[in-house]
Amino acid sequence: MVAQQRSKISVIGTGYLGATHAACMAELGFEVLGLDVDPAKIDALAAGRVPFYEPGLEEVLVRNLENGRLRFTTDYREAAEFADVHFICVGTPQRSDSNAADLSYVDSAIDSLAPLLTRPTVVIGKSTVPVGTAAVAAARLAALAPAGDAVELGWSPEFLREGFGVEDTLRPNRIVIGTTSPRVEEVMREVSASQIEQGIPFLVTDLQTAELVKVSANAFLATKISFINAMAEVSEAAGADVIKLAKALSYDDRIGGKFLGPGLGFGGGCLPKDIRAFMARADELGVEPALSFLREVDAINQRRRARTIDIARGLIGGSFAGRTVAVLGAAFKPNSDDIRDSPALDVAATIASLGGVVTVYDPEALEKARRAHPELGYAHSMLEAVRDAEVVLLLTEWAEFRDADPDELSKVVRECRIVDGRNALDPEHWRARGWIYRALGRP
Ligand SMILES: NC(=O)c1ccc[n+]([C@@H]2O[C@H](COP(=O)([O-])OP(=O)(O)OC[C@H]3O[C@@H](n4cnc5c(N)ncnc54)[C@H](O)[C@@H]3O)[C@@H](O)[C@H]2O)c1
Repeated sequence: MVAQQRSKISVIGTGYLGATHAACMAELGFEVLGLDVDPAKIDALAAGRVPFYEPGLEEVLVRNLENGRLRFTTDYREAAEFADVHFICVGTPQRSDSNAADLSYVDSAIDSLAPLLTRPTVVIGKSTVPVGTAAVAAARLAALAPAGDAVELGWSPEFLREGFGVEDTLRPNRIVIGTTSPRVEEVMREVSASQIEQGIPFLVTDLQTAELVKVSANAFLATKISFINAMAEVSEAAGADVIKLAKALSYDDRIGGKFLGPGLGFGGGCLPKDIRAFMARADELGVEPALSFLREVDAINQRRRARTIDIARGLIGGSFAGRTVAVLGAAFKPNSDDIRDSPALDVAATIASLGGVVTVYDPEALEKARRAHPELGYAHSMLEAVRDAEVVLLLTEWAEFRDADPDELSKVVRECRIVDGRNALDPEHWRARGWIYRALGRP
């Protein structure tokens, strides 16, 4: 009986964030309707197939399709009739002509939904947006909806990590809701009840603060990664070892060891575009100097890609022209098939553009990589990728690569040379097995 009185939920935009959110809300006992404008995505989800790689998500999806709590549609009218609360989870990529966020998908979701809202409804944004977006969206909703002011908007940024999406959605480290409306807060408390019961912090802020929590968290994480990568640059110049440096820093619990791993740097569908959009927004707000350090964070990150390419080029005598290169990794990080702004693929494509004959292997991201970069060669296993390679680059730290056996690889490569772009391997072990081993920030 209790379940029937609960709010019915729609999730608008069923990509990495929305598909995970929809399945997990159903797992928590809610009736959920997922909506996307991409019919192929909706067909796949409705058939129990997750159209991307996210460990554990398919089981949750299938279980909740089978118990009838979860359905999918492309029809906004159906979503408007069904749900009392709508979560907006559409993409906010970087604009092609500037650093700013492209908000056209958010606008389009609001414009499609609002005219269909004839009864009191709560809309909660989860997409990552520039500060100020939610206030504009709230006004737009109220102006376009037949129910007018009875349609209220809050913003609850999402902090899930790809690869841990299910766990992070069911047990987030905090829930933030930006709203000044008691009803929006009440609905958010209802949909978060099981997490609040577990003691997960639930913070209510104004709209602007909630928007800022997300982008400032990502700015901090990007800064931490680029900080240690800047130390890697200095270490290389000074003959120091950044791995030992990072370890020594990590014992200071004010610093901590997480996100302090030197290497090829960050990529993906969030950090790069979020720090750029944050800078663009600061500029609009007249506080550009406050975030000018993020320009350096971005530049340090890009330099790691160039440095990785330089090290590999140096190992094969100064030119990639006609040389065989194996690239291990295409996803922007392990346990994901997301190739958006992937450092690994960027390096692979640049080496190919410099004349290298590049073969890429990734345990999950091959199909997406092939579609984005048809000019590269692809292999279906690590051993196939490294066959006849004159240099091997490890660029995404999948466990399979971490655990690679240097002796096994020696048998098939042309030359035993490896660039460990993620500081994932034990240099002593590889050198002892006859490999020339190079990494970022190490002697
Ligand atoms: N991926 C993550 O790990 C993550 C984590 C936290 C926050 N976010 C944020 O969540 C948002 C979505 O990211 P994502 O990675 O899921 O992107 P995505 O590209 O995987 O998914 C976006 C989905 O929205 C759909 N869409 C676009 N316009 C639509 C419309 N008008 N109506 C309905 N559906 C529409 C697209 O077809 C797509 O399926 C972004 O703002 C992102 O920054 C993502």
